[in-house]
Amino acid sequence: MDPFAVAFDLERGTLPNPARKQVRCASDMRGCYADAKALEQLIAQGNPVHYEVSEVPVPESEGHLMYCLSWLLPGKVGDEYFMTKGHFHEKPGTAEIYLCLRGEGRMLMKSPSGQNAIQKMTRGAMVYVPPFWAHRSINTGSEPLASFCVYPADAGHNYAGIAASGFGRRVFERGGRITVEDR
Ligand SMILES: [Fe+2]
Repeated sequence: MDPFAVAFDLERGTLPNPARKQVRCASDMRGCYADAKALEQLIAQGNPVHYEVSEVPVPESEGHLMYCLSWLLPGKVGDEYFMTKGHFHEKPGTAEIYLCLRGEGRMLMKSPSGQNAIQKMTRGAMVYVPPFWAHRSINTGSEPLASFCVYPADAGHNYAGIAASGFGRRVFERGGRITVEDR
């Protein structure tokens, strides 16, 4: 393939005219939140979009770097902030970089041995997700949380592994404060 360039809108935190956009709505998030009843209410009230992943894809083969723009909307399910499903990589020994362009949030991570880590995401913060760690972003702010992500193109996504065990930590708003709880 030939070299190419795409133009990101760094102010808005968007990738205009993506070739592919994956959209996850509330109904795609069943099993993710602590308050399943609150999620069902949200689905019944219009099933809002939780996040979009925009890509101009490259071949999913060794040597290439896949990249995307992750756009996670603000909101809460009960007291729990909107978040992504989270995943390990199908090829587990592959890292990922998230560069936050807009908004405020957290990157929640979990190692295969069950160790947790959490990093703050604000404009300009780069979070390095090491190989083998599951990762989920969480929007604790009032505007979209937008990040540029890059990872080995053959990494793949394994959602089932973390869905079965959970991350072990959740981020809530309690009394107007961002609170991380073990549960
Ligand atoms: Fe990833």
